[in-house]
Amino acid sequence: MEWSSEKNKDKIPYTTNESGDYDDRSDRTKEWSLDDGLNWWTNGFWGGIMWLLYQDTKDGRYAEIARISEYRLEKCFDDFYGLHHDVGFMFQLSAAADYRLTGNQRSRKTGMHAANLLAGRFNPAGNFIRAWNDIPGDDTKGWAIIDCMMNISQLYWASEETGDPRFRHIAVAHADTAMKNFVRPDGSVNHIVEFDPETGEMVRSLGGQGYGEGSSWTRGQGWAVYGFMISYLHTGKQEYLDTAKKVAHYCMANLPEDGIIPVDFRQPEEPAYEDSCGACVIACGLLEIAKHVPEQEKTMYVKAAVKILKAIDEKRADWSEKCDAIVQNCTGAYHSPEHHFTMNYADYFFIEAIYKLKGTGIFLW
Ligand code: GLY
Repeated sequence: MEWSSEKNKDKIPYTTNESGDYDDRSDRTKEWSLDDGLNWWTNGFWGGIMWLLYQDTKDGRYAEIARISEYRLEKCFDDFYGLHHDVGFMFQLSAAADYRLTGNQRSRKTGMHAANLLAGRFNPAGNFIRAWNDIPGDDTKGWAIIDCMMNISQLYWASEETGDPRFRHIAVAHADTAMKNFVRPDGSVNHIVEFDPETGEMVRSLGGQGYGEGSSWTRGQGWAVYGFMISYLHTGKQEYLDTAKKVAHYCMANLPEDGIIPVDFRQPEEPAYEDSCGACVIACGLLEIAKHVPEQEKTMYVKAAVKILKAIDEKRADWSEKCDAIVQNCTGAYHSPEHHFTMNYADYFFIEAIYKLKGTGIFLW
């Protein structure tokens, strides 16, 4: 087989197939979606993996590789129209991570640029950060999504870095809205909530990438557990820890016996679609909670996270050299035509979770 590093050298890996070709979505046309190409939301995770390995080993090769994609992503600012709420995922793990670890001033500037763009998406009527851009056929001006609880870490970072509280105020306003409008009384969460962009009134919730309206998309559950923990860590606000725990308890109560996580906790038994990526995100959130609760509570979160990670390791990981990705059986969305493929962010969260377990990682959020 041709060395994958040679044929893929100009790509930022998103997913890889059996012949070792990377799909980085750079061939998608803007007709299909404004969010594709270099703006594809997962393009920060490859750098994030490299920075996790760099902080562990201090091997400069990881930093060099991370910077190839980090510097390529700067071009997204020129295009601008394709950028979206996921600038947090894209630049927190690439540029802000570089700056945190090496003091690289070029990276700091990129991170600040991303934070300003994210702050610019805030709608003060309704106190939410707008998700995505215009989607043909859908008026999405009032849409917010649970995933954004991860993106707002870019805002906390910007306030901590500059001493300017504006970014943190926006993050907190968005997190409070999410706490009120996304988290249901039983700890399950909505993926998409639509607000009236003029008045801020909640209009409806949508099933988004999950099974349907009122269902419980597992990766979204993970974004909520980990996302509210991130807000707790940056603000110390007890309600965020309580909310992270509430969503975590719902996840633990619905954890299948074999530890394999479905795409949606409320999907029908068949087809048995899985999402190992959601599994890794939930595990990271649980391990983060475990670090911030009293000793007697820790064990249950760690046990649940280990059960999930063991299931990945033993049943859903490819440790051979045949596949460049580790974590298998990831799914983007329940109703999308493709299921059970690899994703760079599944590997990222799997690796982050392992470092959390070892107690040797760095918190990049
Ligand atoms: N943030 C998009 C996703 O989780 O698929």
